[in-house]
Amino acid sequence: MRVIVPPIKCQGIKTKLVNWIKENAVLYDDGLWIEPFVGSGVVGFNVRPKKAIFSDTNPHIINFYNNIKEKKISASTVRSFLESEGEKLKTEGEKHYYNVRERFNDKFSSLDFLFLNRSCFNGVIRFNKKGKFNVPFCRKEERFSKAYITKIVNQVANLESFLANYDWKFIYRDYVSTIKLAGENDFIYCDPPYIDRHVDYYNSWSHENERKLFELLLSTKAKFILSTWHSNKYRENNYINEFWSHFYILIKSHFYHVGGSEENRNSMNEALVMNYKPLYQEEILTETPEQLVLFEPKSTYRNVINTI
Ligand SMILES: C[S@@+](CC[C@H](N)C(=O)[O-])C[C@H]1O[C@@H](n2cnc3c(N)ncnc32)[C@H](O)[C@@H]1O
Repeated sequence: MRVIVPPIKCQGIKTKLVNWIKENAVLYDDGLWIEPFVGSGVVGFNVRPKKAIFSDTNPHIINFYNNIKEKKISASTVRSFLESEGEKLKTEGEKHYYNVRERFNDKFSSLDFLFLNRSCFNGVIRFNKKGKFNVPFCRKEERFSKAYITKIVNQVANLESFLANYDWKFIYRDYVSTIKLAGENDFIYCDPPYIDRHVDYYNSWSHENERKLFELLLSTKAKFILSTWHSNKYRENNYINEFWSHFYILIKSHFYHVGGSEENRNSMNEALVMNYKPLYQEEILTETPEQLVLFEPKSTYRNVINTI
């Protein structure tokens, strides 16, 4: 299925894994979709549940989506804002990018956040220890071309129509209290920051955070999927063995080329951890080139609970 891309980009965005996650999620008609680490929102926006709670501890992401929901920002205000700021970027160059960055770090406006997110280096969201956005300019003065603005405006328009049709809440809060909201008929999708990677003010993640997440997911009555990485050519994710192997794990390995040569193929194994048997049938578990592997839980939940 064609993936709807959101207007905000962030590190660890799951655009390429959305269909795989969606195929494996189990959503009941009266259930809530709960996404405690919403980031760009690409997963939930594509699942399109009737009712959802999207939360994150990055207030700028939550404000941005709430501003669309409350009609403080619309596709047309985004168009005129990006046209006029894009024009200034074209004539003043990076000086204008840094002016907008300074303005954002003073007033935290959602439109400035969008401008920076779509013209910063690598489209990442990174804040320093004082909570100030600190990503440099992508060095393309003509960044906001007509076509690029139209693409972003359409992404905002898609969201406007979802928000008019679905009961979605965007909440600024920590994953612990969000996961505790889940009842038996709800579905939780978790995509926490990876430890040691992309660490910034809103993305620090510790062993203690991972352990707490494991305990919460172990005791929830809701079904869940957790995205994580399993292994790559160089190392394995130790948390798989320590925590996540107590659940079902579906692994998708994909190959990427280093320097374009056939011999230099590296594989990256993405994992979906879930507390129910995934819906896959045996024959698609050996697909190539994206191989799928399923691991059964290492022990019963009862054993796990006894060891905590
Ligand atoms: C890997 S990103 C999620 C990416 C998202 N699934 C997507 O496809 O765009 C992790 C998100 O977790 C948020 N986050 C970090 N620590 C958190 C916490 N303690 N509670 C809730 N959210 C947190 C970050 O702000 C970030 O947006």
